[in-house]
Amino acid sequence: MAEKSRVLVKSRVLVIGGTGRIGKFIVEASAKFGHPTFALGDIYDQESLLTAIKQVDVVISAVGPTQVEIQDRIVAAIKTAGNIKRFLPSEFGNDADRGHAVEPAKTVYAIKGKIRRLIEAEGIPYTYVVSNYFAGDYLRTLSQLGATAPPRDKVVILGDGNVKAVFNKEDDIGTYTIKAVDDPRTLNKILYIKPPANIYSFNELVSLWERKIGKTLERVYVPDEDILKNIQEAAAPLNHALAVFHAVFVKGDQTNFEIEPSFGVEASELYPDVKYMTVDQYLDQFV
Ligand SMILES: NC(=O)c1ccc[n+]([C@@H]2O[C@H](COP(=O)([O-])OP(=O)(O)OC[C@H]3O[C@@H](n4cnc5c(N)ncnc54)[C@H](OP(=O)(O)O)[C@@H]3O)[C@@H](O)[C@H]2O)c1
Repeated sequence: MAEKSRVLVKSRVLVIGGTGRIGKFIVEASAKFGHPTFALGDIYDQESLLTAIKQVDVVISAVGPTQVEIQDRIVAAIKTAGNIKRFLPSEFGNDADRGHAVEPAKTVYAIKGKIRRLIEAEGIPYTYVVSNYFAGDYLRTLSQLGATAPPRDKVVILGDGNVKAVFNKEDDIGTYTIKAVDDPRTLNKILYIKPPANIYSFNELVSLWERKIGKTLERVYVPDEDILKNIQEAAAPLNHALAVFHAVFVKGDQTNFEIEPSFGVEASELYPDVKYMTVDQYLDQFV
């Protein structure tokens, strides 16, 4: 009975950046799964940050890429508060410690890595969520810059198109993130969201889309050296987007390593009850 009631108690969750692109799905999932859920205004207001942290058990940061560095303020407040059972810093992308990105993306991953080291040095219990690509940004457009829907005539493929990437719907990222907060199996681990049905190479993705629309697209391949040149010549934030494309579609940073039990767990294996949306199902809505 004691064990049962312990399991049923849902941690109180504070989401920082809960209005953001991924933050809003985390807030939604947290409330849906019955966690008392709170949102925070400004990291720079140390007093209200500390007050908010003292009232919860779990802190999730979903601040944007340009705010990841100021998360040292959250780490300091969590350390001072001393009551937090789990901290999930703003990650929600590639694994910051296992990437091969060129600049300017390299610096963003380095900052995320620096925040990881700070959390670990302070002995704060953590989970790092490596969610891979957001479907809304990268699958909806088949990763075509500036597009709002999948292409119907011509598709630009970065690299040789054979490197595998991972695309997850934002709702599912929110669900897996919240599932992890009270789970001892994700304590001090990286939670990789890498469900088998969502791993595709660029070529496979285009072939899947072609089958759906009953049409063959013109495939334009951009070699590695041209992508690197484009990154150097592009202005921000395009250069960042291209550098992440390069890391994912040329270097294979979402799929080029094995998840070892010593550092990581895979979400769809841990939570087989979650009926995640597959890439195949996701693309159906655009046919
Ligand atoms: N895997 C992918 O495909 C992918 C794509 C994009 C981003 N990401 C990653 O996902 C994470 C979240 O990025 P995002 O694009 O979802 O973020 P976003 O849409 O830019 O949202 C940022 C959030 O942080 C809040 N915020 C900004 N400054 C703050 C401050 N000083 N104090 C408290 N909150 C503050 C914003 O609030 P206001 O709205 O009030 O300003 C907003 O809620 C990042 O780590 C990013 O690198 C991954």
